[in-house]
Amino acid sequence: MLNGKTILLIIGGGIAAFKSLDLMRRLRDEGARVVPVLTKAAEEFVTPLSVSALAAEKVYRDLFDLTDEAEMGHIELSRAADLVVVAPATADLLGKMAGGLANDLASTLLMATDKRVLVAPAMNVRMWEHPACQRNVGTLRGDGVLFVGPNDGAMACGEFGPGRMSEVPEIIAAIKTALGDGPLKGKHVLVTSGPTHEPIDPVRYIANRSSGAQGTAIAAALRDLGAKVTFVTGPADVPPPQGVEVVAVETAREMKDAVEAALPADAAIFAAAVADWRMASETASKIKKQDGALPVLEFAENPDILAGVAQMAAGRPPLVIGFAAETDDVIANATAKRARKGCDWIVANDVSAETGIMGGSENAVTLISEAGADVWPRMSKEKVAAQLAQRVADTLLQAK
Ligand code: C5P
Repeated sequence: MLNGKTILLIIGGGIAAFKSLDLMRRLRDEGARVVPVLTKAAEEFVTPLSVSALAAEKVYRDLFDLTDEAEMGHIELSRAADLVVVAPATADLLGKMAGGLANDLASTLLMATDKRVLVAPAMNVRMWEHPACQRNVGTLRGDGVLFVGPNDGAMACGEFGPGRMSEVPEIIAAIKTALGDGPLKGKHVLVTSGPTHEPIDPVRYIANRSSGAQGTAIAAALRDLGAKVTFVTGPADVPPPQGVEVVAVETAREMKDAVEAALPADAAIFAAAVADWRMASETASKIKKQDGALPVLEFAENPDILAGVAQMAAGRPPLVIGFAAETDDVIANATAKRARKGCDWIVANDVSAETGIMGGSENAVTLISEAGADVWPRMSKEKVAAQLAQRVADTLLQAK
């Protein structure tokens, strides 16, 4: 239920605006108050009268409506809600949000709000897939904006693909999650991510090609389901998600300490590409070039953080998930790794150079569990993350 919650609902100008009428009705059935805002373009699709009748509220339409300013300034309007929902979120609205424009009431409210924003995109498939739109989506996700959909399907324009606005029940579920009422509410999940850097001397280090994109997406997806997330990250290319507890580390040993300090947890996901080796001894000064002599580097093995946690005698998180980046025999190697490490699941992926997965935006994973190997189709790292987070939620809820 959404008793006592106020949703500021910004309706953008798209054919999916008709679904927002039903959304308002259902939100009110759940006990929420809905304050509707219409963009100019939205008025071409739904009338202010029908919106205000269904919301049983005044509908806000114009930034320069002085009566509204006297009654409630736009700053106050943007903050009086518990959550701001944009449905349908058009390509234009997403672009304005990503660019920080504020030239009408809707975009000004979105800039002025101090509340979380959930968007339900709806647009033609080509528009959704356009690099400019995808860039904006990436920017907004990085800013902590929550997304529901779009879904795949037939569109009003006759084309088929991603771009359909999510259905009303999906939007309501996302609203509940955004209000901290998701299936992982009250759960603590630990995520490691990114590469580690192992110093050779004060200016050089050993590293790997991990960008941290998959781990970051997983942390964001868990947060979106209501989890309290501790995100232990090495020096990654992508910024950490908003709304999680970030612990930045550099070396494997620092990562191990940070992981141990973050326990207990209900689940722990080890997405970091931890360096297997470090220098056997630390060099305080820069190794000098010497004529005719090559330096000999002596390695020591790093602690296996995943295996350590998976095999803890006491206080082991009920669900421990590792990753296996393999270049051949993915399933066989990952299955053996699951047994060796003692974790519950292994998320295995093929990181051969030709797959473009390491450092890329997509992933093709196989989930290895006690039940066997489940091969997932290739999809964006965000989708892999959302699917994994949902599995974590289902598993933790079942275990109750
Ligand atoms: O043994 P391998 O490096 O292939 O194992 C990969 C899995 O183990 C990943 O989940 C990774 O985060 C974790 N790992 C770890 N500590 C290490 C090495 C790997 O937590 N030192």
